[in-house]
Amino acid sequence: MVENKNLRNTGFLGILEHMAEDKKRLLTGIQSSGQLHIGNYLGALKPFVESYDKYESTLMVADYHALTSLRNPDQLRENIVDVVADYIAVGVNPTVATIFKQSDILEHTELAWIFECLVTVPFLSQAHAYKDKVSKGLDANAGLFNYPMLMAADILLYDTDVVPVGEDQRQHIEYAREAAAKFNLAYGETFKEPKEMILKDVGTVPGVDGKKMSKSYNNTIPLFGTDEAIRTAVMSIKTDSTAVGAPLNPETDITFQLHAHFTPNLAEIQKRYMDGTIGYKESKELLANNIIATISPMRERRAALSREAVIQILKDGAEVARAKASAKMKLVREKVGVALY
Ligand code: ADP
Ligand code: TRP
Repeated sequence: MVENKNLRNTGFLGILEHMAEDKKRLLTGIQSSGQLHIGNYLGALKPFVESYDKYESTLMVADYHALTSLRNPDQLRENIVDVVADYIAVGVNPTVATIFKQSDILEHTELAWIFECLVTVPFLSQAHAYKDKVSKGLDANAGLFNYPMLMAADILLYDTDVVPVGEDQRQHIEYAREAAAKFNLAYGETFKEPKEMILKDVGTVPGVDGKKMSKSYNNTIPLFGTDEAIRTAVMSIKTDSTAVGAPLNPETDITFQLHAHFTPNLAEIQKRYMDGTIGYKESKELLANNIIATISPMRERRAALSREAVIQILKDGAEVARAKASAKMKLVREKVGVALY
């Protein structure tokens, strides 16, 4: 056996195998946020697409987390399919990343329970998501309260090394580390403590009114909209009343800030702004063309993806995830003392 292993490890296949073994594990969870806009794309999806294949990557649809705020089953079903289709459309290859949904792997809620028995109520009441809701005078459900322990289970079940998330989720990764540490202390070394990977800040992408682009502000440029919807949104970007032929300030202009993400010859446009050889209308038309050029291949991929194909991807992903999760939970059950036979 030992000889075989050595032999294998000296050959090309061995090297490949080593590379696969050496890859760190990355996992992230996503809740559907409805119709995506280009702010979501630049701030969340694009950075993920650019880094996921350097890791052994897993993308999990957090459908049980979604239940903390959504009580519409049709909507939930639709959101699950949509979010998978969105990620595939922007470039995630489902044969490279494992894509599955949380509710398919029962071990997540099972492990969450065990973690809940290890942390205290005051600890969980410090979580931002919960605190924010309570501070707004809203009634938080117990699911929202326990949310960080379900998230800890999502991460720890797979011996995850890195968790790419937005800044708003940093604290939840600390909670996952805490759950791992508490468990390891009580029952012996079992879980790896994960690190957050805060996605490179693209800054805040402005909406057509200059505020942060957000679905709540009605100021978005849709990611998968028709050419016409994109042109209409871009043409509605707020401008000042500088006369045509006068220089424009690229630093304050919303259109220019968006050019920075979509326009290859940015320096040339900047020069034309300062020389006064481009007006807002032309600048917006160029921007709309560049946005459309970037996203039309994604839109086509999304349109070509059937519901059935997405469901098959989720089923295949669940098989891979289940094998890992059930092996880990077997160990956990033994450690905590519930496994008798
Ligand atoms: P919305 O503000 O439209 O509700 P979400 O809060 O659902 O968007 O955002 C999901 C992710 O998309 C965020 O974690 C963030 O990384 C990214 N994002 C959203 N809006 C922007 C923006 N205007 N600029 C940069 N990133 C953004
Ligand atoms: N709570 C995360 C969010 O709202 C989603 C999430 C659930 C997640 N489980 C996760 C993120 C595990 C990273 C890892 O964005």
